[in-house]
Amino acid sequence: MFYVVMGVSGSGKSTVGKSLALRLGIPFFDGDAFHPIANVEKMSKGIPLNDDDRKIFIKNINAKCIELKSQDSGGVFACSALKEIYRIWLSEGLEDSIEFLYLKGDFETINQRLLARKDHFMPVSLLKSQYDILEEPKNAHSFDIKHTVTEIVTQFIKNSGKSEFGLVGLGVMGKSLARNLADKGFVLSLFNRFVLNKEENIAKKAIVDHKELNLASGFQDLGDFVNSLSKPRKIFLMIQAGEATDKFLEELTPLLDKGDVVIDGGNSHYIDTLIRQNKLGESGIYFLGTGVSGGEKGALTGPAIMPSGHKLAFDLVQPYFEAITATDFLGTNCCTYIGPEGSGHFVKMIHNGIEYAEMQLIAEVYAICRFGLKMPLTEISKLFSDWNKTDSGSYLLEITADILTKKKDNQPTIDLILDKAGNKGTGNWSTVAAAELGYPATMITAALFARYVSVIKTESNNIEFKNTDLLLKLDTLKSAYDYARKVNHVQGFNLMQAASDAYSWNLNLSEIARIMTNGCIIRSVLMENLVGVLKENKLNHQFLENELEKTCLKQVLKFSLDFDIPLPCLSAAYVFAVSVDTTYPTANVIQAQRDYFGAHTFIWKNEPNSSSVHYNWEL
Ligand code: 6PG
Repeated sequence: MFYVVMGVSGSGKSTVGKSLALRLGIPFFDGDAFHPIANVEKMSKGIPLNDDDRKIFIKNINAKCIELKSQDSGGVFACSALKEIYRIWLSEGLEDSIEFLYLKGDFETINQRLLARKDHFMPVSLLKSQYDILEEPKNAHSFDIKHTVTEIVTQFIKNSGKSEFGLVGLGVMGKSLARNLADKGFVLSLFNRFVLNKEENIAKKAIVDHKELNLASGFQDLGDFVNSLSKPRKIFLMIQAGEATDKFLEELTPLLDKGDVVIDGGNSHYIDTLIRQNKLGESGIYFLGTGVSGGEKGALTGPAIMPSGHKLAFDLVQPYFEAITATDFLGTNCCTYIGPEGSGHFVKMIHNGIEYAEMQLIAEVYAICRFGLKMPLTEISKLFSDWNKTDSGSYLLEITADILTKKKDNQPTIDLILDKAGNKGTGNWSTVAAAELGYPATMITAALFARYVSVIKTESNNIEFKNTDLLLKLDTLKSAYDYARKVNHVQGFNLMQAASDAYSWNLNLSEIARIMTNGCIIRSVLMENLVGVLKENKLNHQFLENELEKTCLKQVLKFSLDFDIPLPCLSAAYVFAVSVDTTYPTANVIQAQRDYFGAHTFIWKNEPNSSSVHYNWEL
């Protein structure tokens, strides 16, 4: 389709046109660029153009449309098109595929606008001459310029009978994202599957329940849903990762056209994403594997979004993502193009891996406070709130402080929850990825296995509070916690770097940290600091050379040993920190053993660049 945004000078044609083009995912063209040099020269001398001059320029625009049409493309053009004859010239050969948006305003309003333009001088006489020749169109979509650009574009899209963006799956996250998108003025089609007696008319009910969805259309027939979307279609999937996603794609793909974009916003495995990209790519359909973080509240008010796949497809959906994400401390959107293939889902997976370790660290500090230092829950909550106001602050610490204040039936809610941790897979995949890529992300692994241990451990209702004279200062505990968090982030980001190197993704780690400073679950003061550290490539093992904090961590571990409080993540942090700069060799023993029983060879220390050798151990 071709859309001509028309009206006198100063009516807002370019602004409305650009916004419409962005939202429809088609290119924008400024009509002025199609004037021949002779016209430009005439205008610059202040000589008004006559109809013959204008005919050349309008025919140029028309020729561009015909060229785009032959390439199966469309476009939005800003062009005054003041007379009916101009609109006829513009429409030649495009009769069924051209529409006009007329921006209507009175002389006084537009004149005021033009006078306010600092970079533009438009003589009143010229504006008046435009009004003199203006023949108001009868078949155009007419909009009063008193409305905002978003209102005009939204209304136009709505009037076109097609929605600009589709969302599939109205579970907790899907519904919140739909509400967030609708709140920003986008015209949506929503689809939720039909399951007899379980999921019936879910999309329509959501529209009734949430007033911001009043412009949306709800579907449970997939064909109708797909047909309700303008092309190229943009369809955001918020459905269960794994088999459910594949099954849905099997139904959806045959209904789509070349150039459509499918976005998978679930926690999918990054290799599955690559397979899906390749499969849909065979039909010319783009597939963007996209990490979305922030939980239900984040999805509604501003998540962090991590898209990957074909850059062209990202460009089409960027305005939608940017409108709904959180912003960082400089006001920039917490959304960035991560890279090709499944890199967005990989980064989201490691985000979750870091999240596992951050959660476990807080749980361990809680255990030390409660069972070692015997602090009441109110005090622990207060401690976490106080820490949250410092460089240790994070969203996870903030919510834990709140969790610890809650009571149910006069008992701490936390004590009523079964002591067995669940998981949906991303921590597991992060651990597998670490093993496959050969990077020791020991804290993610320790956090994952701590969850597994909780499942097999026995649970007691009578917690034994051991008495000892040992003391531990809260400042020491805080430094230990801070240090362990640094180790966690060093490991997580280095694991992303390992993947980037292995798959040639060219990840920008500083930018990834930036989009994780707000909206996502692991947002924290530390993450804000890491943006600069990563920019300078300094998030390496030297970043952990803080002897004071390391000593604090050691004291915390010693203290806790006496209480038999298991601290898998704090221990993993300490072991990693001392291992990477230890002077005590042990790997040489492993090499000797390997060579002894299997002739696996080793390298002599004094000849590090020579090839490996086998030693005759029986000599
Ligand atoms: C987020 C969360 C989100 C979800 C985790 C929970 O970033 O919004 O990480 O993705 O809460 O998947 O994972 P587990 O159930 O495995 O803890």
